[in-house]
Amino acid sequence: MRFATTSTALLALLTFATSHVIKRDIRAVLDDLSSLNTNLGTLSAAVYSYSGGLPAALEIQTQENAVERTLEQATTDTNNTAVFTSVESNSVTEALVALEPVIRSSITALVSKKTLFVSAGVGATVRTNLLNLKSRTDSLSVALQSKATDTDRETIRQGTVDVDDAFDGAIDAYEPQW
Ligand SMILES: *[C@@H]1O[C@H](CO)[C@@H](O)[C@H](O)[C@H]1NC(C)=O
Repeated sequence: MRFATTSTALLALLTFATSHVIKRDIRAVLDDLSSLNTNLGTLSAAVYSYSGGLPAALEIQTQENAVERTLEQATTDTNNTAVFTSVESNSVTEALVALEPVIRSSITALVSKKTLFVSAGVGATVRTNLLNLKSRTDSLSVALQSKATDTDRETIRQGTVDVDDAFDGAIDAYEPQW
């Protein structure tokens, strides 16, 4: 009797512990993707209106850091979420498909202002930012693919290949000219 009580208590404790390790928190992931959309929009707008100089370039650097942090947060939250149900997988994939043009726009903006950034002395910094953004985007993609349904996994994988191509083009554009 005493043993049975202890096992029940132990089982309850284990269940409690497990529910804390694998918390199904799709809301956090969707919120992160929404923040990513906002932060990328802010970054693009700042880059498109950049007209040169170091102070404005540093401001852009701050916004780029915010995007990197949001990408990391989204990866952490995805890692902490249980495998997506098909409804969850669809919502996440739709949010990602909507993010793709926003990411591309930021990349295009950064390339379009290359001459100004190089003149301000931050060409190498922008190139490093692009490398970091690419690597964090890829980590998020891998995390999301590990939780998505088969069909959505393929959509996410293909979208990431396209975004990576855009990143590579931009990184090449910032290759130092000797
Ligand atoms: C997410 O999980 C992957 C695979 O286990 C791991 O490589 C990565 O470092 C994790 N990332 C974060 C930010 O937790």
